[in-house]
Amino acid sequence: MKRTLAYCLILTLYFYSCSRDDSSTSPPVIPVVTGPDTTLYKMLPFPMGAAVSASLLKTNAKYSDVVKKEFNSITAENAMKFAAVHASESSFNFTDADNIVSFAQANGQRVHGHVLNWHQSLPSWVTNFSGDSTAWENLLKTHIQTVVTHFKGKIVSWDVVNELFEDDGQIRNSIWVQKLGADYIARCFIYAHEADKDALLFYNDYGQEYSAAKRTSIINLVMALKNRGIPIHGIGLQFHTSYNQSDANISAAISTAAATGLKVHISELDVRVNVNKQPAFVFTTTLAEQQAAKYKFIVKTYKAIPASQQYGITTWNVGDADSWIPAWQNAPDFPLPFDGNYFRKPAYAGIIEGAK
Ligand code: G3I
Repeated sequence: MKRTLAYCLILTLYFYSCSRDDSSTSPPVIPVVTGPDTTLYKMLPFPMGAAVSASLLKTNAKYSDVVKKEFNSITAENAMKFAAVHASESSFNFTDADNIVSFAQANGQRVHGHVLNWHQSLPSWVTNFSGDSTAWENLLKTHIQTVVTHFKGKIVSWDVVNELFEDDGQIRNSIWVQKLGADYIARCFIYAHEADKDALLFYNDYGQEYSAAKRTSIINLVMALKNRGIPIHGIGLQFHTSYNQSDANISAAISTAAATGLKVHISELDVRVNVNKQPAFVFTTTLAEQQAAKYKFIVKTYKAIPASQQYGITTWNVGDADSWIPAWQNAPDFPLPFDGNYFRKPAYAGIIEGAK
């Protein structure tokens, strides 16, 4: 016992000294006393996932070790997107995606597929495609069914359609809606189901915590699909959120999604702290604690929905240095449970606390 405590203390001091050696742009890292055997997924009653980068898994041993140790579910951050697997009309390339799946299989991790239909990450051959509605339908169906068939038996669930709605709840005027009409979404689910009858199929979107209008449109859509007998099994709440998002909004998104009776996946979680997008932002101890509290609240609220609906929580990548947020907001941020050196942040402890 004494030896374990001493070990934890040494580990803590070591982490702390490492963090202090960082360059001046790094945030102060608050050490978290968790034992060497602690691992996120073992502490949670539902699957705990991370979105992963194919190149980091291949080139960064610290990264792949953390992914292997802490998570039991994997989503490809980019490697299964249309432009990644189907860059030219006549060929598919699954190299990066297959590497991610092999990694997960080798480590006994579930793979959640992302994403079959989205208005972004489309190759130019699609955005420039000229064809009548039959040709577009064929393009859509071929893409979905080739990808799902390729991973049949290896990928247990898919984000079938991503981000159909604008924040005001209106249907986005995407290329798919323009070419095929809004009901194309139902056919995306049907095509995916035809290719793999066992796969669980999700509608995935962001902003369900901050826009009641969007949330309502999503729930109406999902319930309408369900009532028509369209194979839809879950809702993905992306939750690209921030430390100052209200608990009431977080609760509303989770409880509204759960009220559908479908599975609920918190599918792309990250909690921003640089909400004013300051170029010279400093990640203070106070902010790290507030961020941890938000992670804790999210996990706690999620844990309260029926266990059969808890598909799991997935963070959108692993360490702060891997996050898409700094590039997106053109300012630093520290939104994930691990810091740039893959040391555990207070947010990590917040996740575990939330599950208690
Ligand atoms: O891989 C190329 C690299 O070769 C090239 O040099 C570089 C130059 O810009 O681009 C690299 O690709 C980038 C890719 O991320 C990998 O880093 C793309 O430009 C960039 O657009 C892409 O951004 C991704 C974005 O989706 C668009 O696909 C983000 O990493 C990814 O986190 C983000 O994820 C989305 C979810 O799929 C859906 N929900 C929202 C979420 C955040 O936008």
